Amino acid sequence: MAKASARSVAARILTAVMSEQRSLTAVLAEQIKQVDERDRGFCQQLCYGVLRWQPRLTLIADKLLKKPLKHKDADIRALLLIGLYQLRELQTPPHAAISETVNAAKQLGKQWAGGLLNACLRNYQRQQTEIDTALEQNEQAVHAHPEWLLKRYQQDWPEHWQQICEANNQQPPMMLRVNRQQSDRERYLQLLAEQGIAAQALEAGNAAILLSSPCDVHNLPGFFDGSASVQDGAAQMVADLLAIQPGQRILDACAAPGGKTGHILEQAPDNYLMALDISDKRLESIAENLSRLNFSASLAAADAADTGLWWDGEAFDRILIDAPCTGSGVIRRHPDIKLLRRPEDIDQLAQTQQQLLDNLWPLLKPGGLMVYTTCSAFKQENEQQIEAFLQRHPDGAEVRPDKPPAQPRPFGFQRLPGDDVMDGFYYACLQRR
Ligand SMILES: C[S@@+](CC[C@H](N)C(=O)[O-])C[C@H]1O[C@@H](n2cnc3c(N)ncnc32)[C@H](O)[C@@H]1O
Repeated sequence: MAKASARSVAARILTAVMSEQRSLTAVLAEQIKQVDERDRGFCQQLCYGVLRWQPRLTLIADKLLKKPLKHKDADIRALLLIGLYQLRELQTPPHAAISETVNAAKQLGKQWAGGLLNACLRNYQRQQTEIDTALEQNEQAVHAHPEWLLKRYQQDWPEHWQQICEANNQQPPMMLRVNRQQSDRERYLQLLAEQGIAAQALEAGNAAILLSSPCDVHNLPGFFDGSASVQDGAAQMVADLLAIQPGQRILDACAAPGGKTGHILEQAPDNYLMALDISDKRLESIAENLSRLNFSASLAAADAADTGLWWDGEAFDRILIDAPCTGSGVIRRHPDIKLLRRPEDIDQLAQTQQQLLDNLWPLLKPGGLMVYTTCSAFKQENEQQIEAFLQRHPDGAEVRPDKPPAQPRPFGFQRLPGDDVMDGFYYACLQRR
């Protein structure tokens, strides 16, 4: 069967994200196969790029459309954003950007929209300076972030919010974690070089590698035998913080898809590890990851905070809570967060995080260590959450590791997005007296 064009599939994917609030990762996985293999990278680039710049592109589209498109034509709106993205950010030759976007409307069965798209995109070409100047006063357009998100960054990081927004709008680099049960960083760098993949060691633990440009995992030496995993350096700082000793019982409470579970087992393959996740489906991804790495763990789908449902009564020496969060530190990897997150999510997530902390704390042995992490840059989910936790739990104290994983904060450590080329991340180590 003939494959669909990258632009028409990108329009469908973007419609599912923008109109049905579905996650980009999930929709991409479902739909990308409709595109010819050699065009998949371009389709992906269009989806990520449009969502990254969507707050700006939408304002431009609104200026170009004489009247708003109907809800049933959300795919045509997506195509308009795709056209604008190509003209503004990709420097696609205008004739190709415009004619191929118009063709994509035909493929979507909406030939009528060709004229409209053609007129809007040509108008943009003609009026670009005027439109761009008018938007210079609009912070949402300038920084390409929704208003509530900008305000929140400004409130939490009055001196760094612009740098955060800039980092959020970058294409993220690809990073690897070498499985030190199988190899070491130097040897793996050598294998990459032999494969013609340019890479360097990254200062984040002893297994992190930064690739000069992203590549398909199929090209990574030994990937399917577990020699390496794809993981940002910021996430690779977590396993070390657990300072695991032989024989200790470990709980990874929010484990899917198992990135940190795998890393913990690479460091301590003989320890007992229980990995939980509230989502059955996501739990499967932990099993797949561990099988690739050739490890096993005790897996259960459960709400970690509802300990009566899954706990056997034996306390843990180490508990990792890699908590569900807004993801406001990893927007460069998940630009759909700009569109899908709502300001009211913050309170709700903070409440879940508090429950996880409070309900798992009694499961920690005296002297044991709980590591709390998020990929958020909001203080409410991070330092303020830990400050409040320590007030509620006088038997808890923060431990400051010798080698700080990020910038020290009054409670815990914060890496802002893009710091040392890594994702935004928060870390706190709590010891039970
Ligand atoms: C940040 S992700 C974890 C990433 C994972 N630790 C890794 O390194 O690959 C948070 C996970 O928490 C799970 N989750 C959310 N609420 C939970 C709960 N109450 N109990 C257990 N897992 C939960 C989500 O399904 C999600 O998979």
